[in-house]
Amino acid sequence: MSQRTLVLLKPDAVRRGLVGEIIGRIESKAGWKITALELRALERPTLEQHYAEHEGKPFYAPLVEFMLSGPSVAMVVEGERVIEGVRALAGPTDPIAAAPGSIRGDYGTIVRENLIHASDSEQSAERELKIFFPDFA
Ligand code: TYD
Ligand code: MG
Repeated sequence: MSQRTLVLLKPDAVRRGLVGEIIGRIESKAGWKITALELRALERPTLEQHYAEHEGKPFYAPLVEFMLSGPSVAMVVEGERVIEGVRALAGPTDPIAAAPGSIRGDYGTIVRENLIHASDSEQSAERELKIFFPDFA
């Protein structure tokens, strides 16, 4: 089942020069394609909309500040079971709990600075793609 997902390479991934490495892992999966990609300084209203489910949680404000701390790479990835698939490549939210071999497991230590966002369901993907790529058909 071909799907589309929103992927963000967060400011830590861009600062640390890991964009190529992470994109390589995504691009090398059979049949997956990056169909939109932009280096972008995300704005507060965009992030507040994106992370609305976490509003009111203790990590929400520092998370938004972190996401404002530098540019991210925003992209659309399409392909077979790509929603579940990019989440699997990323690993669990806490990089210390993430297995080596996953992006977060290989490069992360801090929960907030966990390198990558990927939509967690078809419903989230549809919602998030509209936020970040409103003109994308
Ligand atoms: P969440 O949607 O739970 O994780 P995921 O990115 O794996 O879907 O949380 C969104 C982001 O918020 C997460 O990537 C990092 C940050 N965060 C924290 O800083 N502290 C926390 O305790 C949690 C749960 C998340
Ligand atoms: Mg999430």
